[in-house]
Amino acid sequence: MMNDTLLSHDPLTLFSAWYEEMRHHPQIMEPTAMVLATVGASGRPSLRMVLLKQFDQQGFVFYSNYQSRKGVEIAENPQVALLFWWPPLSRQVRIEGEAKMVTSEQSDQYFQSRPRGSQLSALISPQSQVIPDRDYLKKSYQAAQDRYAHQVIPRPAFWGGYCVVPDLYEFWDGRPNRLHDRFLYSRQNDQWILQILAP
Ligand SMILES: Cc1cc2nc3c(=O)[nH]c(=O)nc-3n(C[C@H](O)[C@H](O)[C@H](O)COP(=O)(O)O)c2cc1C
Repeated sequence: MMNDTLLSHDPLTLFSAWYEEMRHHPQIMEPTAMVLATVGASGRPSLRMVLLKQFDQQGFVFYSNYQSRKGVEIAENPQVALLFWWPPLSRQVRIEGEAKMVTSEQSDQYFQSRPRGSQLSALISPQSQVIPDRDYLKKSYQAAQDRYAHQVIPRPAFWGGYCVVPDLYEFWDGRPNRLHDRFLYSRQNDQWILQILAP
C-alpha cells in the first residue's frame, strides 16, 4: 500500500517502484507488455499490445512499424493511451499523453541491438497490410537473409521508436471490499497534481 511520502512524488517514482516490484514477480510472464490505444482521424479507437523498451523522465518508449495501423493513427492523432495490468499484484496503471517518434539515432541503436531474426522480420513485414499467404513472408524473409548475409542489416526508415510523453497517470491498487486506491496524477503547467478518485 502507498504511503504519503511516495504519493507526493513525481508519478514516475511511483511507476518505477511498482514496475520494479512487478518485474521481480515470478508470476508475471510478460512484464513489459502494455496495451496501446490510438484513435486516428476516423475517431474509432484501436488497441494492441506492445512492449515497453525504456522509460524515464522523457516518457515511455516502444518500437513498431511507422506504416502500420497504429503508425498511421499516431500520425493522424498523436494522443495515445497506455495500459498496464499486473494481475498477481492486483494493479493497473493508465498513462495518457502524446506519442513522438524517437530520434533516428535511438531507433538505429535499438534496431542494431535486436536479434538478427527480428531485424529481418521488421525489414520484410509490411505490418498491418494484407498479404497473400504465409509463404510470402517466408520467401521475403529468405530473400532478405540471402541479401544481407554477412552484412549489417540497416534499419528500414519505416521502423522505429515512439516515446509517449505522459500528461496523465492513474494508478489503481486493488484493496479489500472493492475500496480500491485510485491515484490520478495530471500535469498542469509542468507540475504534477495528485488527486484521489473514488473506486
Ligand atoms: C505481448 C505482445 C507484445 C507485442 N509487442 C509489439 C511491439 O513491441 N511492437 C509492435 O509493433 N507490435 C507488437 N505486438 C504486435 C501488436 O500487438 C500488433 O499486432 C501489431 O503491432 C500490429 O498492430 P496495428 O495493426 O494496430 O498497427 C505485440 C503483440 C503481443 C501479443
